[in-house]
Amino acid sequence: MTTDPLVIFTPSGKRGHFPVGTPVLTAARKLGVDLDSVCGGRGICSKCQITPSYGEFAKHGVTVADDAISPKNAVEDRYDEKRGLKPGRRLGCQATIQSDVVIDVPAESQVHRQVIRKSAAQRDIVMDPATSVHYVKVAEPDMHDPSGDFERLQDALRNELGMDRVMVDLPILRKLQPALRKGEWGVTVTLYQDHTGAPARILDIAPGFDERPIYGLAIDLGSTTVAAHLCDLKTGEVIASSGLMNPQIRFGEDLMSRVSYAMMNKGGDQEMTIAVRDAISDLAREIATEADIPTDRIMETVFVCNPVMHHLLLGIDPVELGQAPFALATGDSLSLGATDLNLTGMNDSARVYILPCIAGHVGADCAAVALSEQPDQSDDLVLIVDVGTNAEILLGDKTGVLACSSPTGPAFEGAQISSGQRAAPGAIERIEIDPVTKEPRFRVIGCDEWSDHPDFASLTAQTGVTGICGSGIIEAVAEMRTAGLLDPTGLIGNAEQTGTPRCEAEGRTNVYVIHDDTANGGPRITVTQGDIRAIQLAKSALYAGARLLMDEKGVETVDRIVLAGAFGAHISVKHALILGMIPDAPLDKVTSAGNAAGTGARIALCSKTARKQIETTVRQITKVETAIEPKFQEHFVNANAIPHATDGFPHLTQVVTLPDASFNTQGQTGGRRRRRG
Ligand code: FES
Repeated sequence: MTTDPLVIFTPSGKRGHFPVGTPVLTAARKLGVDLDSVCGGRGICSKCQITPSYGEFAKHGVTVADDAISPKNAVEDRYDEKRGLKPGRRLGCQATIQSDVVIDVPAESQVHRQVIRKSAAQRDIVMDPATSVHYVKVAEPDMHDPSGDFERLQDALRNELGMDRVMVDLPILRKLQPALRKGEWGVTVTLYQDHTGAPARILDIAPGFDERPIYGLAIDLGSTTVAAHLCDLKTGEVIASSGLMNPQIRFGEDLMSRVSYAMMNKGGDQEMTIAVRDAISDLAREIATEADIPTDRIMETVFVCNPVMHHLLLGIDPVELGQAPFALATGDSLSLGATDLNLTGMNDSARVYILPCIAGHVGADCAAVALSEQPDQSDDLVLIVDVGTNAEILLGDKTGVLACSSPTGPAFEGAQISSGQRAAPGAIERIEIDPVTKEPRFRVIGCDEWSDHPDFASLTAQTGVTGICGSGIIEAVAEMRTAGLLDPTGLIGNAEQTGTPRCEAEGRTNVYVIHDDTANGGPRITVTQGDIRAIQLAKSALYAGARLLMDEKGVETVDRIVLAGAFGAHISVKHALILGMIPDAPLDKVTSAGNAAGTGARIALCSKTARKQIETTVRQITKVETAIEPKFQEHFVNANAIPHATDGFPHLTQVVTLPDASFNTQGQTGGRRRRRG
């Protein structure tokens, strides 16, 4: 039986016996305890802090004596003097074991700390970034045993970090000799080592111990907006977030119009490539300024995007994506240098990782949603819908996942809607229509009160009531249907048919007036027949895509539905079901995941393991091409009715009664009878 002292680490519970005099860091490493070290145990970085616990530990069966750990040494005293150690804290590389002891590793000393917590059913993400910094000591040159400085740096990296092969680009190699001499043969290297087994790459070299943090950007490059999170690559913490409109909008609102711009204008693809790269560089600079960090501390960027944005970012003509068979130049994940993409606003050596695309119409953004929501790990059958200008749809469970995309167009984002606007202060986002009086009440972004509140006018004096945003138009159409102003085919009734003067004739069709402020020089906000048609087209495309995947899976219902995308967070589930955007499901089984693609990008930025996982998952996803499926057209036509021509909505009818109206015969007052269903 060993007489060596027993060491127990908390919170991991790992334990083992070590000879007297063993540094705590050494014991931790031997036991696989997650204890950080950047300087390799030289007492410089202070990342290895631990807290020894003293006294009786009945639970562990040990008594820890006051002198179980060596007294503070000169290195710790100096550190404490200069930087301060919290009470009870010790440097794990300096403190040695003297007798049985219980040692706590605080969260900030853990390398693989959890950063992105998902709901209980899903795993937590732990830090495992591709880019990290290390302080190493390099042997001094010796005339009798000649070797280059870089070769000796390689030796040090091999000995200290177990790195076999290390590459360096010329601009960084130029920094090596001055850095080594200035740092007295100690340098801090920023290393990029991904999950592919490719040689590690030195991204930067600084003299001595450089404790400045390094950062990464997680970018969701959408057709309409570009959103970025700046993350600390050590902690995973989001330091700042920012976004801007995609400047490519001037070449076409939706993806296909951008592809046709490229087809019809020589050099059009290059124009769009330059526009988006410049915007990303500006965004990087802007976010660095906001976070008050130098741009050259941004060492890595992860992109998620749809296939057309993917090709345009890479400078590849997207023409093939505009025509069958929709071939991608490559669907694989990509690891590049930021300079390959002419990106600025970050370190010249920064690396870029682009998630894999699933198919010609289903991009890396959908892969990022899959990474975040993990349908492939789900026990029950989940339908995930990412609503944007293009809807990305995933359906699956542990037995397999299917994916498709569906061209919904920009109607859900308030575009192509007569009174539509982006979600901004003054936009109507919620609306209710009284089924008896047919009078509306609504709420606008920027004001918590409804429009029938006595103070509403004064509360919205600043913003005004300016238009309807995406979630507002969905509610408006659904409420019109519930209130009997709209028949199942999507026809708006006239004043006589509906019994409200708010239904006014406009040309050959009718409009519903939500808000009329023309007397005060303000806007007149209506829902027109054209608006209804645009929403019907969008929702039919979405529903038909989901239904097509359900056919492929051989199911008639799904267990739960996740609405992804920033927009998904604002959609009222009841109204989405009344409209028939999504298949029927229990209302409490329809949830919002927020910007799941952005979360997926952050996960990939923080974790090499996650990159590997999504690359495998993407290969296993079955792609369904909506454009060539005859069934899609049939589903699309049936989904045109509100909520649907043939599919039942049993869960919806438990909570909502939809009137059975028909406004098709002019002058005939139909639509007063009501039935459930
Ligand atoms: S490992 Fe760097 S100070 Fe202990």
